Amino acid sequence: MDDRPIGVFDSGVGGLTVARALLDYLPGESIIYYGDTARGPYGPLERDEVRGYVDDVAGLLVNEGVKMLVVACNSASSAGLDHIRNAYPDIALVEVIEPAVRAAVKATRNRHIGVIGTALTVASGSYVRAIAMTRENVELFQHACPRFVELVERGETAGPEVQRIAEEYLSSLIESDVDTLILGCTHYPLLRGVIQYVMGRDVVLIESDKEAAIDVFSELTRREMFRPRDLPPQHRFLSSGDPKQFEELGHRFLGPEITKVEEQPWS
Ligand code: DGL
Repeated sequence: MDDRPIGVFDSGVGGLTVARALLDYLPGESIIYYGDTARGPYGPLERDEVRGYVDDVAGLLVNEGVKMLVVACNSASSAGLDHIRNAYPDIALVEVIEPAVRAAVKATRNRHIGVIGTALTVASGSYVRAIAMTRENVELFQHACPRFVELVERGETAGPEVQRIAEEYLSSLIESDVDTLILGCTHYPLLRGVIQYVMGRDVVLIESDKEAAIDVFSELTRREMFRPRDLPPQHRFLSSGDPKQFEELGHRFLGPEITKVEEQPWS
């Protein structure tokens, strides 16, 4: 048994889709979530800069006494996590890429898998490497969809403009005949309607939020680290930027559990 919270972090509010899945799969656990809204989004940034930010946030959460780190951001995971794995060898770490890749490899029927993500995620080749690690005979087709993040944050998740952009981004994946598509960005589950519509009903969408939550459950089981049943969970939400904005957007991503946001800037 272990009553410490699970530390979850992202470049901003997107990782709240992962936090939502954690609340659903592990309702007895406490979460401390850090959104680096003042420095995010990470997707358009260079890899080294993001690695530095990941270092900062992981350090902050470890100082808060978390029992596990969940890197709820594809761009941060794509920048590489070896430095924080080495810095905190005793703290379990779950990220969002490998769990989604494992699910996609199981789901595909024609061995053509697609992945969409930010510019950093696609350029890093993180999904290409994760697919290669499975040693499965599958082909991966990638496409960066940078405008999806801004659309979701503006609350635009349906309508002619969103559909036009989705059709443009997804056309090469349809041409490549992918039958399984990984939503390789925390924001994209909020666009699952339009993405499923444009890709067609036969295409299986893999969402890393649920897959990561299942990995967190497995890891806590393996380490026998569940929170004691008689202690009700308590959640905290921290942001490096404007807490009001975080709260407003956060409700859309996570729901009513966000009651208060603490501002924790870097300077
Ligand atoms: N959270 C990021 C991701 O999953 C999307 C937003 C960003 O660019 O930082 O890639």
